[in-house]
Amino acid sequence: MKIAKAWGRTAALAAAAATVLLGAAATTAHAQAWPNKPVTWIVPFAAGGPTDAMARDIADKVGRQIGQAIVIENAAGAGGTIGAGKAAKATPDGYTFLVGHMGYMGAAPSLYKKLSYDPVKDFDGVFRFPDTPLVLLVPKSSPYKTADALIAAAKASPGKINFGNAGVGSTSHLIAALFESRAGIQVTSISYKGAAPAMNDLVGGQVDAMFDQSNTALPQVQGGRISPIALTSLTPMPQQYPGVAPLADKALPGFEAATWYGLYAPKGVPKDVVAKLHQAYLKALADKDWTARMASQGIHLLPEAQYAPDALARHTAAEVAKWRKVAADAKIQID
Ligand code: MLT
Repeated sequence: MKIAKAWGRTAALAAAAATVLLGAAATTAHAQAWPNKPVTWIVPFAAGGPTDAMARDIADKVGRQIGQAIVIENAAGAGGTIGAGKAAKATPDGYTFLVGHMGYMGAAPSLYKKLSYDPVKDFDGVFRFPDTPLVLLVPKSSPYKTADALIAAAKASPGKINFGNAGVGSTSHLIAALFESRAGIQVTSISYKGAAPAMNDLVGGQVDAMFDQSNTALPQVQGGRISPIALTSLTPMPQQYPGVAPLADKALPGFEAATWYGLYAPKGVPKDVVAKLHQAYLKALADKDWTARMASQGIHLLPEAQYAPDALARHTAAEVAKWRKVAADAKIQID
């Protein structure tokens, strides 16, 4: 009887060991095999905006490292929440990711009563992108040459000044709402399916002002199509916007804002895929010409540790919590 039991135990142990080995082999096989086809990054805004521009640049560099094309899929609408909802439901197989940012991955749970996803529960962090401070922009023909002049005009005629934005709950909408709240003014928001279409109407003079991230604002400013009148960074950016003061300097002491971004996978993505993508990104960031070029656009590079998957996950959870208070204080509500 004892021998039978011993054999029984041995067989059970062998079966368990085989299961573990097969599982490990499958994971290793997945790791070795991944990526064996193009990878998709969903950008939930129209092409040509700051999120799209940042995503395409990073996707190009990371794609070269992993030896596989990274395809950008623009899925616009509702301030990025439509594309984020689509990504949350994607198969977590390492071939579909979301380029997220502070709007739909930070503020959205405080702004939308009915959100089809949870930024924390439905996603795994892969790596954080650098941040982008924003610029307060007006048409070239605008009479408002400074933030103080714009605020004074808005105070004199509540609701008259209109701000373009990339969609309800987008960065450009949120920062304008915080600006409105801090300045004690009332403006009219005009929403588009991304910053690019909003920018077109700013250039054309159909909107009076908008906040845009520096990486896409700069070429428009350098091309003489729009005018920068203030920065959301605490420090000036003399190379990019000579003579333009931070809002924090005078108009709105202490006002600071920057868009943060991150690459996310639907919850349950293989950990080895996350590690491979994170390492590919860090290898790409070792190219000092690339990081210098990003810095020249006003992009704010972060300490390397802040790019890590778990750092992005912690940051996302902290931002979701932070925006509950920020949205309540600024009375920003959407639905
Ligand atoms: C936003 O304003 O939230 C987005 O950055 C707009 C965009 O990237 O198109």
